[in-house]
Amino acid sequence: MQRVFSGIQPTGIPHLGNYLGAIRNWVTLQSDHECLFCLVDMHTLTMPWTPQSLREQTLGSTACLLASGIDPKRLYNQSAVSAHARLGWIFNCVSRLGWLNRMTQFKDKAGKSRENHSAGLYVYPNLMAADILTFHATRVPVGDDQRQHIELANDIAKKFNHDMSIEFFPEIEPIISPEAARVMSLRDGNKKMSKSDPSEQSRIVLTDTPEEITQKIRRAKTDSEALPSEKEGLEGRPEAQNLVTIYAAMSDQSLEKVLSDFGGQGFGSFKQALADLLVEKLSPVATETRHLLADEHHLLQVLRQGAEHARNISEPIVQEAERLVGFLR
Ligand code: AMP
Ligand code: TRP
Repeated sequence: MQRVFSGIQPTGIPHLGNYLGAIRNWVTLQSDHECLFCLVDMHTLTMPWTPQSLREQTLGSTACLLASGIDPKRLYNQSAVSAHARLGWIFNCVSRLGWLNRMTQFKDKAGKSRENHSAGLYVYPNLMAADILTFHATRVPVGDDQRQHIELANDIAKKFNHDMSIEFFPEIEPIISPEAARVMSLRDGNKKMSKSDPSEQSRIVLTDTPEEITQKIRRAKTDSEALPSEKEGLEGRPEAQNLVTIYAAMSDQSLEKVLSDFGGQGFGSFKQALADLLVEKLSPVATETRHLLADEHHLLQVLRQGAEHARNISEPIVQEAERLVGFLR
């Protein structure tokens, strides 16, 4: 059976983009794959953070993932399993500066002030490669924005294998669900929905109340034309495209079907239908998240057990990598 690994940063409550682009696919994969899901708290230190918010958001994300249906035995936080840091260091020494210089996520996050960012942000993709490869995982469900990082992980694996003259690390294949690989901001159809957007109106998060969901959808940016009946009519209309994509993904229907149902109608009635659908699907998750958050002890227990399971799998693999590079023990 192929092993599946994926990670999410505990930098805030997961949003609709995380849910449709990642979490929902993770839940589906659990039924017929061996899965590991990781709150990548070490990656969170690559951008400004506070200890208090990291603790809170790790617990909040744990509650959200469990409420979304993630198997508690499969969930843990990265810093609790030392293999990530150990293999990450080896990969810092395998990866090439030229490769890292091409990473678009680094360029986006560092912006113009490159010099002032942490060295961790620069080597972020090396740690991500270690996250996956320390389990010999071969399938990685992610949103479209992570494609380049997976390619880099494969370059690192290949170079390690080549340099050590052994086929030790397997090739990784991203699983990118085409339906909602890129959910966009509700305020700007050209920007990705993101936890770091200063406007809370730009995203729906998994703890939003029905009133908040409805209000955010009602205020979502649109244009003044009616919805088209065919896909081609969405071209050049990023906000309309985004809302229709969300509706299709949430209702497990094709874009064509949604457009044949709503084509010709104005946004008023479509937004109402979308808000109702989101409330129906997300409210149970929000209620369960709040319920789980009331018991911190249980959440910590889940993470500890998950870490033990992750350690059992990763430890022999990282030890073999350490032996291959020449470390004594
Ligand atoms: P992050 O919140 O950046 O840690 O992302 C966690 C997972 O959610 C990754 O697999 C991302 O690719 C995915 N993701 C994040 N934002 C979006 C988005 N706007 N649309 C689709 N997937 C997303
Ligand atoms: N970089 C990913 C993101 O921002 C999170 C992540 C870290 C990850 N390590 C991973 C995703 C390993 C998949 C596999 O979304």
